[in-house]
Amino acid sequence: METIRGRQSREMNAMDLRDLLAGYETISLDLGTGDGRFVCKNAEQNTGTFFIGIDSCRENLRVNSQRKLPNALFVIANAQSLPRELGGLVSCVSINFPWGSLIEGLLNNDARLLDGLARATRPRAMMDVSLNADALASAGWDLDSGANQIEWVLNAAGWQTRSRSDLTARDLREIPTTWAKRLAFGRNPRATRLALRKSSL
Ligand SMILES: C[S@@+](CC[C@H](N)C(=O)[O-])C[C@H]1O[C@@H](n2cnc3c(N)ncnc32)[C@H](O)[C@@H]1O
Repeated sequence: METIRGRQSREMNAMDLRDLLAGYETISLDLGTGDGRFVCKNAEQNTGTFFIGIDSCRENLRVNSQRKLPNALFVIANAQSLPRELGGLVSCVSINFPWGSLIEGLLNNDARLLDGLARATRPRAMMDVSLNADALASAGWDLDSGANQIEWVLNAAGWQTRSRSDLTARDLREIPTTWAKRLAFGRNPRATRLALRKSSL
């Protein structure tokens, strides 16, 4: 898989990845990580967890991927073809404010995305998905029906809902991602969060 640090990219194979992750019990994957702020913040605060940020757009990752954090890694990949090297390693997935082909994949039950997530994660893995009204509107859905559709798709793919909640502007301000901050101070801060767990079957 292609990892990135600043302007440099490097291929990493499954053995290199396992060496890097050795000693970390919890591996967290942030899919559609954007500029990687969420990964860096969490890696600083939770040094016993390894954080992997994935995005298809390398430009946004130039700055934060240069940070020298021992428990963070950035990967350039499309969510519809997640790296095989991740197979069975991931214990938590976050998808914060997806848009474009990432939100389309969730809405349209894209098997490449869902199978990739199933392959990358451990049994009983956790998943948090935060959805905002404007991104769903761009895909042709309102917030409630779009969140219902994504919840249904994930449930059908074996991710059981643990909780679902509406996020207020104050909640958004507490989420350490660039997009959450933009939404919190923007004109349409409406958002919903789904917390799910992979069923053991
Ligand atoms: C609205 S931004 C949110 C970024 C970040 N999670 C945040 O909260 O600040 C959506 C991100 O999803 C990424 N994205 C969209 N489609 C993707 C795909 N198919 N695979 C990987 N990343 C994708 C975009 O490149 C963008 O960085």
